[in-house]
Amino acid sequence: MTPKPKITKKPKKSINVGIIGLGAYLPSKVMTNLDLEKLVDTSDEWIRTRTGISERRIACKEEMTSDLAANAARMAIKNAKLEPADIDLIILATITPDMLFPATSCFVQAKLGAVNAACFDINAACSGFIHELTIAQQFIESGMYKNILVIGAELLSRFVDWKDRSTCVLFGDGAGAAVIAPVKRGGLLSSYIGADGTKSRLLMFPAGGSVTPASHETVTQGLHFLKMEGNEVFKNAVRVMTNASAQALSRAGLTTEDIDCVIPHQANIRIIEAVIQRVGIPAEKVFVNVEKYGNMSAASAIVALFEAVKEGRVKKGDKVLMVAFGSGFVWGSCVIEW
Ligand SMILES: CC(C)(COP(=O)(O)OP(=O)(O)OC[C@H]1O[C@@H](n2cnc3c(N)ncnc32)[C@H](O)[C@@H]1OP(=O)(O)O)[C@@H](O)C(=O)NCCC(=O)NCCS
Repeated sequence: MTPKPKITKKPKKSINVGIIGLGAYLPSKVMTNLDLEKLVDTSDEWIRTRTGISERRIACKEEMTSDLAANAARMAIKNAKLEPADIDLIILATITPDMLFPATSCFVQAKLGAVNAACFDINAACSGFIHELTIAQQFIESGMYKNILVIGAELLSRFVDWKDRSTCVLFGDGAGAAVIAPVKRGGLLSSYIGADGTKSRLLMFPAGGSVTPASHETVTQGLHFLKMEGNEVFKNAVRVMTNASAQALSRAGLTTEDIDCVIPHQANIRIIEAVIQRVGIPAEKVFVNVEKYGNMSAASAIVALFEAVKEGRVKKGDKVLMVAFGSGFVWGSCVIEW
């Protein structure tokens, strides 16, 4: 009998994976709380005190999710000092795609001319960016890809019911993008993602899928619009984001004291305050821009990171804790050394 060849495991070479370019695109049209007062029975005071939101961006009629995504992506690729042809893979996170299929990332690939990129979309709602980072890390560590473009793009203004004051005041349009690649030092120190599908009906688009295909009736009943049990989502968001923050810290072998900046999902200032208080992080370390854009789901975290870096809130060598929660429920957290 021929002896079996001895399999020697090659020691895994650790590759640092990080962000080498960031971009953002926010449509120019601003809708303020005062504008909303003219549409639904609400007030600037109610929206600001319950959510922290003062205004949000609304895409123009000609803009599609893939346009917002492509604009943010061009900036990220330029900031990474790359060309579109250098991108090996595009991952786009969205709950508001151009169409159910094909993948919106394919439209983006064509708009960018990223001819060498494979493409797919993910639906991880507001946690899209953390999920994308986690996926991109695997592709880079395995050696399969080098430059991965991740995008979060949402056009929620086309999917909310402008007659439902309990949801329409919360959301906005925008896109953020990041190029992920091997880096010499720092980068992603830890990441954690999770889900609880038993709570999937608390935040959803009920119609338009295989469960309830679009029909005259679904449209008349407004079932193609976003529906949410706000109170339940709120409580779960606080609990889960608190736990997820602890997970990312322990996986990185760090404590709250090591963290220079926290970038939480930007849904509601009250959720953010409740989470950071439970995690034990001082408010001055937390980056917040929800007042300007509302909740942009998958786009929120990347746009917040982009602005935090631009404003000097995140500097070279800083450790950044990111945490997000969204429909599914799904959640994610990570620590990045900038
Ligand atoms: C939606 C949300 C802001 C509502 O705040 P809340 O303090 O829970 O408010 P409630 O739902 O208890 O509603 C309180 C009252 O305000 C009213 N209300 C709801 N929206 C309103 C609005 N835009 N303007 C004025 N009043 C409003 C409700 O009708 C209710 O009136 P009632 O007491 O007469 O029934 C809050 O639940 C929330 O932020 N949830 C999480 C949303 C989220 O982050 N989703 C995405 C997760 S990724």
